[in-house]
Amino acid sequence: MATKYRAALMLGPGKQLEVTSIEAAQPGLGEVRIKNFAVALQPLDTKMLIAGYGTATQFKYPAVLGTSGAGTIDALGQDVTGLKVGDRVVFDTKAYVQVDQNRRMGTWQQLVICDAKTVAKIGDVAFEQAVLVDFPLQTAVAALHVFLGMGKLNSGKEDGKVLIWGAGGAVGSYAVQYAKQVGHEVVVTASPRDIDRQKRLGASEVVDYKATDVVEQLRTLGPYKYLFTASGDQASQKALVSLLAPKGGKFASVLPAAVELPSNVEIIYTAFSQAAQKDEYSDWRDWWYQDYLPEVLAKGSLEPSKFTKVEGGLSALQQASQDVFDGKFRGKVVVDPQE
Ligand SMILES: NC(=O)c1ccc[n+]([C@@H]2O[C@H](COP(=O)([O-])OP(=O)(O)OC[C@H]3O[C@@H](n4cnc5c(N)ncnc54)[C@H](OP(=O)(O)O)[C@@H]3O)[C@@H](O)[C@H]2O)c1
Repeated sequence: MATKYRAALMLGPGKQLEVTSIEAAQPGLGEVRIKNFAVALQPLDTKMLIAGYGTATQFKYPAVLGTSGAGTIDALGQDVTGLKVGDRVVFDTKAYVQVDQNRRMGTWQQLVICDAKTVAKIGDVAFEQAVLVDFPLQTAVAALHVFLGMGKLNSGKEDGKVLIWGAGGAVGSYAVQYAKQVGHEVVVTASPRDIDRQKRLGASEVVDYKATDVVEQLRTLGPYKYLFTASGDQASQKALVSLLAPKGGKFASVLPAAVELPSNVEIIYTAFSQAAQKDEYSDWRDWWYQDYLPEVLAKGSLEPSKFTKVEGGLSALQQASQDVFDGKFRGKVVVDPQE
């Protein structure tokens, strides 16, 4: 008899999610099926649901949102090695980069199909802790390491200052910690209320991004070897362009270019969070899932973002998404699809 399970179906941008029972897909070659116990709502997911942002325009509806989750392996496809049924894992899927796989691989459902290569074992780390770390940390490390060229942890001490703009969010907070652990001096912009935490995470200087002289303060504290805006907003991009323009250079941004760029300044924007899903980044992917992420989780070597566990399972996702979209939560919202 076919296995039935529950999924939160997105019927279209701006439409309400529909939580319904559907038939379970089977894992194919090199894939696993995962019983999903935790999802963390990312700004990207909520912008897709509420405003039809990005890949949502290419979905074949009904679609399933979410690209990350944490749970236990429930079934193995052919040619999967190193994983077994019952393993506790955190994982990321191709739901947003291969839209024809979205219904099988979206993570706002109880059973999710995932490429075995993008699964990390988590030992006895709590599902909600693992899912909290994976997506934003992966975004930060991909931006800094894969796209800006910062080294890996333990690859020899690096020097040079790093500027993280918008360090208050999850991506920014992990970027600060990674850059510090690689060996850099890290200057950040954040809200004044966040100064103590930013110092604890590794910032040497914290500048209020709303200060009228923020660019002058940052210029005095520079120069910077690596620059990253983890808020990605227009004001941050303008500021980084202004810092770089005299000599030229590049910076990474979590959101697309929203400013005119002088010819000597480059902005690096991509879906950093999805880089591991592309074969061209297979070295990065293997390091991430087999080495770095399991080690970070096992050692608890990074301070995770604050989170709120919202009760109600998949049925709670609609309102929780609206609240995240409206900026009502500080920190991440985590939901257990099995509830
Ligand atoms: N390109 C990618 O691959 C990728 C991947 C992940 C996320 N993103 C994007 O990156 C952004 C951040 O994601 P996240 O998960 O870190 O979000 P988050 O954890 O929800 O961060 C929100 C926090 O960022 C700070 N912030 C908000 N607006 C700001 C601004 N204009 N300037 C400076 N700081 C600001 C605020 O903290 P304070 O009030 O304390 O300052 C806010 O509480 C989102 O837009 C998301 O869509 C892109």
